[in-house]
Amino acid sequence: MRIGPHELATNLFLSPLAGYTNLPFRVTLRELGGLGWATTDLVNARSLLERNHTALQLVASSPEDRPLAIQLFGSVPEEMRDAAIMCEEMGAQSVDINMGCPVKKVVRIGGGSAMMTELDRTAALVRSMVAAVKIPVTAKMRLGWDDDNLTAPDLARVLEDAGVAAVFVHGRTRAQGFSGRVNLNGIRGVVAAVKHIPVIGNGDVTTPEAARHMLDETGCAGVSIGRGAFYDPWIFRRTDHFLRTGTTLPEPSFAERVRVMQRHFDRYCDFYGEERGPRLFRKVAPWYAKRFGPAKPFKQDVITINSRADFAAVLARYTAWRAQFCDETGELLPRFALSPLTASFMQAEDEAAASERSAIPVPKGPVDTW
Ligand SMILES: Cc1cc2nc3c(=O)[nH]c(=O)nc-3n(C[C@H](O)[C@H](O)[C@H](O)COP(=O)(O)O)c2cc1C
Repeated sequence: MRIGPHELATNLFLSPLAGYTNLPFRVTLRELGGLGWATTDLVNARSLLERNHTALQLVASSPEDRPLAIQLFGSVPEEMRDAAIMCEEMGAQSVDINMGCPVKKVVRIGGGSAMMTELDRTAALVRSMVAAVKIPVTAKMRLGWDDDNLTAPDLARVLEDAGVAAVFVHGRTRAQGFSGRVNLNGIRGVVAAVKHIPVIGNGDVTTPEAARHMLDETGCAGVSIGRGAFYDPWIFRRTDHFLRTGTTLPEPSFAERVRVMQRHFDRYCDFYGEERGPRLFRKVAPWYAKRFGPAKPFKQDVITINSRADFAAVLARYTAWRAQFCDETGELLPRFALSPLTASFMQAEDEAAASERSAIPVPKGPVDTW
């Protein structure tokens, strides 16, 4: 598939995850294969223009970190336009606009003509960005405010007319937050609404089968994966393989999980420094541990690390402790083996409620803006 002039190696995308989809994570994922396109965390357009240190760190990239979209957030048209120009100058392949909830104000005051005003305003903002840069501009949205206000199809149509090259749709409403099922019909509605541009579906894809299902059920051109990549950084390679061959690669071994976690950790230290890197990795390592099997001591200890040496010690202690749950090859004994993840939209209705508890956790953060 294509985004503007870019022909992608796969139709699999990394969703922006503020606090996680930094350069170390993106490069670690790309190295594992299957990832066609990645997007940065959302970046405040004004902060970027002010060359704020944090904003610059969010957009930091490297030659192997391609193709890359920078996601901008802001509502002042001139700032969004100038920030898009800055992204282009920095070498980004695309700019993505965060439209977490473009209709909040409109829905509050009752929609109708006000909604059209808001859409007009959004379209004008997008048009000025599209006109200012040569790289493609894309947008990421939810289905709408709530089930009675599924505005994404209208918005997508307006954005296409304004010149966006693709839209990303998280198949939930803002009212849903991260709960409930992803609404595949809603995503299909957006696919049907646009004329030519690719629509990329998003939400709860945690397995290759779920990606296939989303593509088949919605007609979307690609699938974007966020939290599934925390659990399973191999998900892009595994999904690409499944989409091409119909066969499933085995889940990575514990040794492979540790190898990749270590590379991810080393990149954190290189990128954020020997002091900040290990501390920041405290919130990353527990995601890897979710697929380690019994891992309580690891989760407790890893959130105290301050250095590379601390991390090595925690890992060594944990590996020794974990051996009691393993066979001679180092894999978990069957009674400790983990059941595979299932996407919310792959479950039967009654199961969905029952598994609400085991839904993909959402890390702390301002989730209502995503
Ligand atoms: C911790 C976290 C941070 C997120 N940050 C962003 C963000 O910066 N920009 C954005 O558009 N969406 C953000 N999202 C939403 C995701 O990109 C994605 O739409 C959502 O998590 C659903 O996809 P998933 O089920 O594959 O995770 C974030 C979600 C999470 C859980």
